Amino acid sequence: MYVCVCHGISDKTLRKLAHEQGMTDIKEIRKVTPLGSQCGKCVRTAKKILQEAVPRTMLKHSANLRAKLISNKAAYL
Ligand code: FES
Repeated sequence: MYVCVCHGISDKTLRKLAHEQGMTDIKEIRKVTPLGSQCGKCVRTAKKILQEAVPRTMLKHSANLRAKLISNKAAYL
């Protein structure tokens, strides 16, 4: 689904930027895309999508951290 119709930016693109680049703030997204720079109607929806993407990003990072901690602990045993 297109979030920003003016610039053809989809929800998939926003989620990808959030998950892969850690961009969870609209200001960060605006540095790499023109989102919201024309009519601005997309900004509210984009913020909502980014807020929903945060927990998944945090879960992914916490899973990686947990795996590292477990492997480090195993090295000391
Ligand atoms: S819909 Fe994004 S700037 Fe118009």
